[in-house]
Amino acid sequence: MCGIVGYIGAKQAQNILLEGLSKLEYRGYDSAGLAVYNGETISVNKAQGRLSNLEEKLAVRSLPGVLGIGHTRWATHGKPSDENAHPHVDSTGRFAVVHNGIIENYIQLKEELMAKGHTFQSETDTEVVAKLIGDLWNGDLVSTVQATVSRLEGAFALGVISENEPDKLVAVRYASPLVVGIGRGENFIASDIPAILKHTREVYILEDGEMAVLTKDQVKLMKVDGTPVEREPMHVSWDIETAEKGGYDRFMLKEIHEQPKAIRDTLASRIKDGLVDLSNEVALSPEAIRNIEKIHFVACGTAYHAGLVGKYVLEDLARIPVECDVASEYRYRDPIITDKTLVVVISQSGETADTLAALREAKKQGARVLAITNVVGSSVAREADDVIITWAGPEIAVASTKAYTSQLIAIYLLGLYFAQVRGHKSEAELKEIISHLGQLAGLAEQVLEYEGKIAEFARSIADNEHLFFLGRGLDYAVALEGSLKLKEISYIHSEAYAAGELKHGTLALIEENIPVVALATQSSVFDKMVSNIQEVKARGAKVLGFAVEGDSELQKSVDEVITIPKTIDLLAPVLTVIPLQLFAYYACIQRGYDVDKPRNLAKSVTVE
Ligand code: F6R
Repeated sequence: MCGIVGYIGAKQAQNILLEGLSKLEYRGYDSAGLAVYNGETISVNKAQGRLSNLEEKLAVRSLPGVLGIGHTRWATHGKPSDENAHPHVDSTGRFAVVHNGIIENYIQLKEELMAKGHTFQSETDTEVVAKLIGDLWNGDLVSTVQATVSRLEGAFALGVISENEPDKLVAVRYASPLVVGIGRGENFIASDIPAILKHTREVYILEDGEMAVLTKDQVKLMKVDGTPVEREPMHVSWDIETAEKGGYDRFMLKEIHEQPKAIRDTLASRIKDGLVDLSNEVALSPEAIRNIEKIHFVACGTAYHAGLVGKYVLEDLARIPVECDVASEYRYRDPIITDKTLVVVISQSGETADTLAALREAKKQGARVLAITNVVGSSVAREADDVIITWAGPEIAVASTKAYTSQLIAIYLLGLYFAQVRGHKSEAELKEIISHLGQLAGLAEQVLEYEGKIAEFARSIADNEHLFFLGRGLDYAVALEGSLKLKEISYIHSEAYAAGELKHGTLALIEENIPVVALATQSSVFDKMVSNIQEVKARGAKVLGFAVEGDSELQKSVDEVITIPKTIDLLAPVLTVIPLQLFAYYACIQRGYDVDKPRNLAKSVTVE
């Protein structure tokens, strides 16, 4: 949550910071602000709401200067308001701070500072950091920041500037992401690479407990205790265009359409001689793979829904018992973990606090942890024992789409690899499944051609306030994801049910004209699913059915039907979810909401 940027160089900082923040708005958009040193003093300008509000204010009162920090906020402590917007300053106004994360002991620190006479203008935990820096000022910015950080508990990434040492920008990372961009005669900090990619491709990804001291010509890395850190910068090979809208009106639609590519890229180089080879990424020995007694999939939101598919896939292909947990529950439920448990954490951003905490807990208890993530160098990627990167490219829209389908591909690869090593499928059986896997990207392209029909159905139900998704088996896992997508962007209340469970209570809610999306792509439960559809039809529901191509039976029982190209049942989720994403997208457009930035949400949830 929250995005931070910082600039030190010879150019005017304001526009560089604003541009950087525009790439970070996915991290929060409750308010935004800048602090720029103008050669004599630090000036701050901030505004509640979207970045455009700040831009309007800056058009009236700009902030000249070549050193500055900026922030886009997702409120945790204190409501969205001008006062609570960052940057925050110390009591003398000589230090300004931007912060991403949560300072857990801020109340105690605030009381201590108030007792010393400091007064507070905001309800935020961040203002405590600014006041503390001012309070601990010892004539040296770096050691003052170090002394401050030693008093803080929680998760934070900080950017600090001071009138006292205007040739420096100080950054600290502790459990919230932060990158440093290396330019020529200028240097940058940011919560994420797209914010600085226009200016440089050479970056340092700070590790927990590290800080960076930037001047315009130099970047020094060190631990927060001052121990110097030497490391080579990372070269970013992907393009800024990948993180831009590329002709689409909205990121979500662009990302939905990027799925065939994301599927191809995630598969590429992992299939050799018709079989899956993950030996470069998964360092587990064949013996260790054979010894795995159970797998725990742990993730949040959409990534958790991918884990639910993973349960079916790993149990089916590799015959390993699987549990799937929401990360925020997992670490507090005292899960039974042994050294023969493989914990698979799934996270698009690789920075989700709940998932990271679950990963750490699993490691502490002796599990081996494998991460499926979309961000190279993310916290999850760095802390896991093994990493499978989903090559979906940057996902900007808050609602996850291409990351989910790429996660499914990674899960299939894992299942097939384990099945092969454990000998649960013959080579011929594996090659058959893998050949279907290879066709998925092309089939996904075909699914995208139904966009018009799906948009029409979405428009026809957009005035409803309630809706149901039904499915059995893998279709149930996909129904949960379809329902989440619809809720988060269109604000239509929806529920996903295992179709056989409906009659145990929820059927009472089915009444005349209530829309029901029924997924019937799984052949083994097709007849049962048709019966469940008839149960809701008999009570007046308006049903949109999803059937597999060539399946004419379902048409007789539903009002509208979307056909999914034929693949094997196990792989159908990759294709079924795409029309559900489009369905949510067009329902949202019809209702006139902001697709890419749904209310109350942020892309990267780095608080618990
Ligand atoms: C929903 C969505 C969220 C994320 C969840 C986990 O569309 O995107 O539910 O899936 O916040 O995020 P990551 O995958 O970054 O850990």
